[in-house]
Amino acid sequence: QVPIIGLVMNDRGFISRVLCPKFGGYLTFGSLEKGKESAPSQPTAADLINVYNIRQIGPDTKVFGIIGNPVGHSKSPILHNEAFRSVGLNAVYVPFLVDDLAKFLSTYSSPDFAGFSCTIPHKEAAVRCCDEVDPIARDIGAVNTIIRKPDGKLVGYNTDYVGAISAIEDGIRATQQTHSTVSPLAGRLFVVIGAGGAGKALAYGAKEKGARVVIANRTFARAQELGNLIGGPALTLTELENYHPEEGMILANTTAIGMHPNVNETPLSKQALKSYAVVFDAVYTPKETRLLREAAECGATVVSGLEMFIRQAMGQFEHFTGMPELQIA
Ligand SMILES: NC(=O)c1ccc[n+]([C@@H]2O[C@H](COP(=O)([O-])OP(=O)(O)OC[C@H]3O[C@@H](n4cnc5c(N)ncnc54)[C@H](OP(=O)(O)O)[C@@H]3O)[C@@H](O)[C@H]2O)c1
Repeated sequence: QVPIIGLVMNDRGFISRVLCPKFGGYLTFGSLEKGKESAPSQPTAADLINVYNIRQIGPDTKVFGIIGNPVGHSKSPILHNEAFRSVGLNAVYVPFLVDDLAKFLSTYSSPDFAGFSCTIPHKEAAVRCCDEVDPIARDIGAVNTIIRKPDGKLVGYNTDYVGAISAIEDGIRATQQTHSTVSPLAGRLFVVIGAGGAGKALAYGAKEKGARVVIANRTFARAQELGNLIGGPALTLTELENYHPEEGMILANTTAIGMHPNVNETPLSKQALKSYAVVFDAVYTPKETRLLREAAECGATVVSGLEMFIRQAMGQFEHFTGMPELQIA
């Protein structure tokens, strides 16, 4: 028997490079700088040390991570690893490129894999894969946070809706003089583009705050389904271009349109954007999407997906650790 260290290439193999010290490997390696990799998806040595805290990883380190496809664009590892480091937790957070969520969860079933964030396209499947689902996540129909309890049961939550809605409310309040406790979304016409996990969370949250919600989606049947669920009308993306029933509407893009690398794409023309007073984009890579740039040029208040990203991640941190949310500067 010859001991070996297996370091696996490409996005799927990335975790082997980071988790190597947890499973007995005495070395792993990274490139000296970005662009100088000797194999696909090799991290830099600086990222291994500074992002993944590789020197602290050992057999007792708890593993958390983001499940998605694609997942390489996610900034969650940077945020969560820094949060773990700041409270001295023996834990690491990695990206998991996953095709089949149920298969992934039954394979990575050790208690050492203690919690997961879920992103595109697994949030709806996550509701079915959890043993218990928080009532709000069940109502929304999407789970973005999974915790493995000590008895092995998987519990699902949704932190997207609070993250997104509070970001939009604070964005609007920052432009107002009043300090009213009533939500600035109350009574407003709130158009959600997209009917996936993030779309459901935004639609549910806006309705909770008293907004009149409209859903527009590429697959019209899904727009209708979500519209029926929250009691609002459904539109096709073509209809949305000429939708202008009133002034001062709020728009929330929850599709991946405009996400890196397709940064020149946008879900709505600049002409149509003129009807909106507030525009939010769930996409946060890049921070300023074409949609937000053009909305600002039209005079709208814009709210970046980065605000939602930080807030939903801090909600996840609380579920992962049982500690109160951190304030990220
Ligand atoms: N800022 C944050 O913290 C945050 C949090 C969650 C999600 N997000 C972002 O939100 C986006 C959606 O995530 P999700 O989890 O909701 O994904 P999801 O459940 O897979 O839903 C994707 C939605 O986007 C639509 N879509 C995808 N590609 C499209 C295209 N080319 N043209 C038109 N519509 C398209 C889909 O329409 P169909 O129904 O027709 O397929 C569906 O409505 C992603 O970019 C994700 O990164 C950001």
